[in-house]
Amino acid sequence: MTTFTKIIGDESPFIEVDASKRLSKIDPMTYGGFTEHMGRCIYGGIYDPENPLSDARGFRKDVLEALREIDIPVVRYPGGNFVATYHWQDGIGPRDKRPKRPELAWLGTESNQFGTDEFMQWLDVLSEGKPQRVEPYLCLNMGTGTLDEALAWVEYCNGTRDTHYANLRRQNGHPEPYRVKYWALGNEVWGPWQVEQMTKEDYAKKAAQWAKALRLLDPDVVLILCGQDGQASWDHYVLNKCVGWVDMHSIHVYTASEQHVKNATAPLAAERAIEITASLIDLARIENGVAPTKAPVKICFDEWNVWDPERAPGDKGAEEKYTLSDALAVAVWLNVFVRQSRYIGMANIAQTVNVISPLMTTSKGVVKQSTWWPLLLFSKYMRGWTVASHVRAAAYAGETQPAWLQGALGENGAPWLDVSATLGDDGFVNLAVVNISETEDFVVDLKGVSAETSVYTVSGSQVSSTNTEEKEDVGLSEGKWDGKGKYTFPKHTFTLLRWKA
Ligand code: AHR
Repeated sequence: MTTFTKIIGDESPFIEVDASKRLSKIDPMTYGGFTEHMGRCIYGGIYDPENPLSDARGFRKDVLEALREIDIPVVRYPGGNFVATYHWQDGIGPRDKRPKRPELAWLGTESNQFGTDEFMQWLDVLSEGKPQRVEPYLCLNMGTGTLDEALAWVEYCNGTRDTHYANLRRQNGHPEPYRVKYWALGNEVWGPWQVEQMTKEDYAKKAAQWAKALRLLDPDVVLILCGQDGQASWDHYVLNKCVGWVDMHSIHVYTASEQHVKNATAPLAAERAIEITASLIDLARIENGVAPTKAPVKICFDEWNVWDPERAPGDKGAEEKYTLSDALAVAVWLNVFVRQSRYIGMANIAQTVNVISPLMTTSKGVVKQSTWWPLLLFSKYMRGWTVASHVRAAAYAGETQPAWLQGALGENGAPWLDVSATLGDDGFVNLAVVNISETEDFVVDLKGVSAETSVYTVSGSQVSSTNTEEKEDVGLSEGKWDGKGKYTFPKHTFTLLRWKA
């Protein structure tokens, strides 16, 4: 939680961090990823058997190495929109027997050479050297898929008894169950672009029935309800009907604007959506008389990012080229998750490789886009507890994207300095500050910092700067600050300050 005072008259800016005020735990799942059968995410992204950079299983080693750097805790799979016509059994067993299918979300052809077993194996490799494995999060087909098929998938992944699908997994070379905990009850089934789009009434009825059956088969599953953007009547309705059946409520928001300030402040709309969803969850509990001792449904923000589908269309692989402005927007997005950590059970940047991603592959290696750097710094340092912070700063109160955000922010507007703060389990305080302004450096009194401080700065010469195979115009620099006097946050930068509490 960060509170804000807008500067009046000749007041000067300050940021105050109080690490003794621990507000809520940041769920490690906040830094999750998402891999969909879309564009070059799977084929040519994580799986590229013909490429010399891949291992014997066809997994790109450079991609694995990069993803280990950002320490992803969980990966959602196999979609996204793709899942609405996906039959998981097409993607198991001998590769030469797997059917090729027309794919109806992105209008490609699915070869099924990468499926459930390959995904699990890829996660095993990704987990090597980590204290905890990278968790799988599978999304069920609630488009053309049936409940029988969904149950069979859970049995295939998690079954331990002498039953058909558990035996099929063993037959395919995997004696141990995969213990997949996280399962989504469909993806964006409210969207007119979905095969078998549903009404909220139909979905709520079906989701509750599926949840009941899935839990009978495996009581340990964590079930995720398909929400919209957190502020729709869909969210209100399905939460009201299903709050007792599920563990998390999924919401999706993508932000973008051609204008820098609108682009960088747009994630504040997602912050409002989180607050609205949290209230809808409370409301659903009240309306259904849910026992106060039952753990609250958390928000699973399982698709978030900067994306303009006109600039980077989905059916062309959505290879969005990210600018410094987008990197600042991603830093604001991540500040939002830290500030709202009380409500967030999981968040997944969409997506992890090549498709609207901070990480791009070429035949010769990987390119880290501008948005890579805030993701890396947050995932590395912004863990543990969200702690109290206060910012006094000048603010932007002009037009926003979406337009309603301007009204929601009110006359105070959005501070030019967007802030969140954490206290890690290692006893370090971490302060993330995005100076959104394209023109102004801010000289700020930092209250609560007295020790020597490590400084990480993400910057570039202009907000339109990008990274390509040939050049890295948006990069990370590291330095030290003695923690005395005022600190200058340069225009259009993201800064992370870190000191021992
Ligand atoms: O992440 C790209 C697409 O965006 C996903 O497939 C879909 O769920 C969303 O609309």
